[in-house]
Amino acid sequence: MDPEPAAAAVKGATTDEEPAPKRARPAGPSVDNFTPQTMSLEEFQKLPRRQKKKVMRQETWDQRSEAFKDKQRETRREARRRHKQRVASGETPRRRKPEEQTPSGIRVVLDMAFDDKMCDKEIKSVCSQLRRCYATNRQALRPVDLHITKLHDQSRKRLGDTTDYSRWSAQHVAFHDAEYPDVFEKQDLVYLTADSPNELDGLDPGKVYIVGGLVDKNRYPRLTLEKAEQQGIAHARLPIGQYVKMASRKVVTVNQIFEMLIKFIETDSWGTAFLDVIPQRKIRDKSGGGGGGGAAKDGTGSDTGSGGSSDNDSDEAAA
Ligand SMILES: C[S@@+](CC[C@H](N)C(=O)[O-])C[C@H]1O[C@@H](n2cnc3c(N)ncnc32)[C@H](O)[C@@H]1O
Repeated sequence: MDPEPAAAAVKGATTDEEPAPKRARPAGPSVDNFTPQTMSLEEFQKLPRRQKKKVMRQETWDQRSEAFKDKQRETRREARRRHKQRVASGETPRRRKPEEQTPSGIRVVLDMAFDDKMCDKEIKSVCSQLRRCYATNRQALRPVDLHITKLHDQSRKRLGDTTDYSRWSAQHVAFHDAEYPDVFEKQDLVYLTADSPNELDGLDPGKVYIVGGLVDKNRYPRLTLEKAEQQGIAHARLPIGQYVKMASRKVVTVNQIFEMLIKFIETDSWGTAFLDVIPQRKIRDKSGGGGGGGAAKDGTGSDTGSGGSSDNDSDEAAA
């Protein structure tokens, strides 16, 4: 067998002596056929060749960046259209106007002083949770006075990378460089922590409820409890066990705690708040760890709760 034809076929090369034709470059604008937009053709033609090239390059660049901006505008328009559709279908809660809201008078602090306890990915998660807290507060019928204290370098940078938080509405959030004991009266402070032996009953406008801005995947159990004890401030856990039996520890994420507080303020029912916020898959038994029955302890029959409306499967929601 003659190997030559086969080799030629494999390479797709031409077998005779003529070289393969070069692929033609797409014809781009050239100074000889260019029609300028910023000056007359006559003026353009009088320019030296170098100058012509410069004008041509500048105009081509401007046109491209205009096309790029048009594309961006179109993408934003499309995103707005999809958002409207989601709001209309109820998938996304409607953003409320401030005049539709009644301030609840409840004060909540997100204590962001834990940068040194988190890796980059966890800082990213906690910032994402913080954004969700702000968004939840903006959409709430009865928003809280939300305070963010001690936003440290890394979290500040990470938050700034993803959102222009300097434009967040002062009506829905306040930032403090100081720690919460320097902002509020010590006797009003209550640190919310899953490890506290004290159970929260209701919410008191005279108190300031602190949530630890931390994603630690259970690496630091009792961290916030010990912090509260060292600072000599009150602490309490949410009464989750009275209403739902969770498949794992009753430690939830920052945004989930926040959403529970907002839901409780709106409904006056812990049962509804827990069942609405805790993802279904994390609930082992809705009748409550405390004792059978089925109906929620607050008498709302709230095991009809939608169950995890804010099911946070993503890493941003990891506790
Ligand atoms: C992911 S947890 C951090 C857990 C951390 N090991 C600690 O010591 O708090 C984030 C924050 O949510 C709040 N939190 C989570 N589960 C809670 C519960 N069952 N009751 C009260 N607060 C809770 C606490 O403020 C906590 O600091």
